[in-house]
Amino acid sequence: MSRELIVGATGASGAAVTVTLLRALLRQEQVSRIHLIFSDAALPVMSQELRVPGLDVATFKTRFLEDDPRVTTWRNDQLAAPIASGSYPSGGMIIVPCSMNTLAAVSHGIADRLLARAADVTLKERRPLLLAVRETPLSLIHLENMVRATRSGATIFPLCPAFYAQPDTIEKMVEDFTLRLLDHLGLAADRGFRWGITPHR
Ligand SMILES: Cc1cc2nc3c(=O)[nH]c(=O)nc-3n(C[C@H](O)[C@H](O)[C@H](O)COP(=O)(O)O)c2cc1C
Repeated sequence: MSRELIVGATGASGAAVTVTLLRALLRQEQVSRIHLIFSDAALPVMSQELRVPGLDVATFKTRFLEDDPRVTTWRNDQLAAPIASGSYPSGGMIIVPCSMNTLAAVSHGIADRLLARAADVTLKERRPLLLAVRETPLSLIHLENMVRATRSGATIFPLCPAFYAQPDTIEKMVEDFTLRLLDHLGLAADRGFRWGITPHR
């Protein structure tokens, strides 16, 4: 069955995970389309982490996604985009990385930007919403917002890579984390470590 997914990227640390996840999704035959939204703070942080000065949406798509036609990008102020409505049949949404700011918006139903609105819609339609939150340490506000989001049906998926696979590169560690995200979306990851199945590296 073909599937459309929404991917949101925010201004938290973790650009490598966004790129690895998008590439993994595009290797999936089932994924017919990805709707990609960057929060206003996302690209400046990604620019630094991906070492591409002045990174913009067009450069991101060319450089990291080979301009794959299955990726549609939306501006965060496009509140009339199809994915702002529950009538659009998306198969779920992943926010990776998810900042504490966006977590706060999502957990309180604030939907004044497309990324937050798409997440709000995903929750109300009872579709899967994965929040790859990243911050450390966590305040009570962060923790309570995670509880609120969980109660509304989101899956808090901390951007918290495992060490038991003994990855020798950051790339492998990120792939292992991405495998877990794909598992939760019901998609078969083609890369990454599974305890007791994949031989140790
Ligand atoms: C280099 C850098 C790294 C950041 N990392 C994080 C982070 O890991 N988690 C977080 O919640 N905010 C982080 N921030 C702060 C967010 O970018 C900031 O709160 C922003 O308002 C989030 O907006 P957004 O949710 O619309 O993306 C970082 C900021 C910078 C400049």
